[in-house]
Amino acid sequence: MEVGEGFEVVPPSASAMVESMRAYGYSPGTAVADLVDNSIAAGARNVWLRFIWDGPDSCISVTDDGIGMDEDGLRNAMRLGSRSPLEDRHKDDLGRFGLGLKTASFSQSRRLTVASIMSGGAVATRCWDLDHIARSGTDRWELRTAPMASSERHLQALDSMKSGTVVLWELLDRLVAGTSVGNDADRVAFYRAADLVREHLAMVFHRYIDGPSPRLTIHTGGEKITDQVRGWDPFLTAHPATHEGPTEDIICPGGQFSVTGFILPHKDRLTERAYEEGAGTNGWTGHQGMYVYRNERLLVPGGWLGLGRPRAWTAQAHYNLARIRVDLPNTLDADWQIDVRKSMARVPLGSRERLFELAEIVRGQARKVFAHRARHGARRETEEIVRAWSARPTPDGRSTYRVNRKHPTVRALLAGEAEGKAAIERLLRTLEETVPVRQIWLDTVDQEGEHGRPFENVADSSVRDLMQATYRIYRKRKGLSDSEAVRQVLLHEEFQDFPGIAATLGE
Ligand SMILES: Nc1ncnc2c1ncn2[C@@H]1O[C@H](COP(=O)(O)OP(=O)(O)O)[C@@H](O)[C@H]1O
Ligand SMILES: [Mg+2]
Repeated sequence: MEVGEGFEVVPPSASAMVESMRAYGYSPGTAVADLVDNSIAAGARNVWLRFIWDGPDSCISVTDDGIGMDEDGLRNAMRLGSRSPLEDRHKDDLGRFGLGLKTASFSQSRRLTVASIMSGGAVATRCWDLDHIARSGTDRWELRTAPMASSERHLQALDSMKSGTVVLWELLDRLVAGTSVGNDADRVAFYRAADLVREHLAMVFHRYIDGPSPRLTIHTGGEKITDQVRGWDPFLTAHPATHEGPTEDIICPGGQFSVTGFILPHKDRLTERAYEEGAGTNGWTGHQGMYVYRNERLLVPGGWLGLGRPRAWTAQAHYNLARIRVDLPNTLDADWQIDVRKSMARVPLGSRERLFELAEIVRGQARKVFAHRARHGARRETEEIVRAWSARPTPDGRSTYRVNRKHPTVRALLAGEAEGKAAIERLLRTLEETVPVRQIWLDTVDQEGEHGRPFENVADSSVRDLMQATYRIYRKRKGLSDSEAVRQVLLHEEFQDFPGIAATLGE
């Protein structure tokens, strides 16, 4: 090819490019999910995911029964940037950048082998061997056209299939570098990583693998397949106490997306097991918020996407029961700034307001369910509980907590029906045992740390009575001088704001 007048060709250095492409920030889970995306896009109904422990020679393979690729197709699939992100995609396609297969694989392994077969064709195999690229020095993008000998046995699954693809990751330097086959701790760590990958897939693809006739089955195991991945449904849609709100469509420049709010059942209504499962990998607080799906594949598992006013909402236990489903078509990738890893999304500016309003509604409802149960427990609402404390809002929206004068223990003392040390001790114990900690906690978060002060908005005369009485205790009982007694009164927490009254206490 002729180089245009006034231009020179500066291709990327293969070894440098490939090494930096390893740092996109994939986890083993997000990397495998990117492969499964490709399988789904290729029409696969089954995916076999294998984790084979062999110390530093361990490997991971993903096999699917999709349409597969021929020699040309596979060569192009291995190319970095095999398709422009600007191209329109089939509406069911989960790909975007033409990079996932390579970036996801390189993030975990230094040797990526792909073997594929299309119906009626022959098996084609290609291999990116990063050590070869690093060694070759010439900075050519040299792709192996046949598998390495050590890889062959892991590609055999294809022999018995009409069409399909095997993606094999070897030299898993990030996962197994420095391990040895015989070391138990190393092996356990490898299988633990495998479990996390399966949990991630259970979450990301739950809408593909759940349901009576699932679109996709993910089989998994080691050399032998022993298991199936079961979906993790963040909305507990099968639970009768889950409240599913209406679905609203929001229009964006590139198309429309839909939003559905869910209020999950309170802990009291879940079995211990269901509660544990509902917590997911990140826990209840980590999983509150927005779930962004693209073609029903989960991109963002919770969080508030920077929504909130005046500051972005942070995760707070009160909103644990709020989970909101956002369904995007793949035509909105640019508007939502979907990243290469498909782990991030940003709310388009024009949709922020409406999404904020909807989230506010769901959050409000979720908070009510959470707070009601937190305050009153799982008891029937018709039973009137006798409480030693009552909470009252002040006119400016804060809360004050009062001892209930009608509580029998309190009333008996006030009415003179009970007296003496023992009766007072009973009262104090009652109060100590029933301090409304949960309610105070709930209110505090709501009011963003605006605490009332002792005797705020109370007439000076009644504060003065109490200060005077305290002053007298110090004078008479303790025999302090006038100025010492005043000083002591002012050390009381409850009188901190009243130095003016203290100055008038002397006799
Ligand atoms: N498992 C597979 N089965 C069939 N084709 C595949 C498979 N994996 C990848 N491909 C092909 O390789 C191309 C590049 O994949 P990838 O690098 O993940 O980019 P993208 O998914 O964004 O297109 C895909 O568009 C597809 O044509
Ligand atoms: Mg892809």
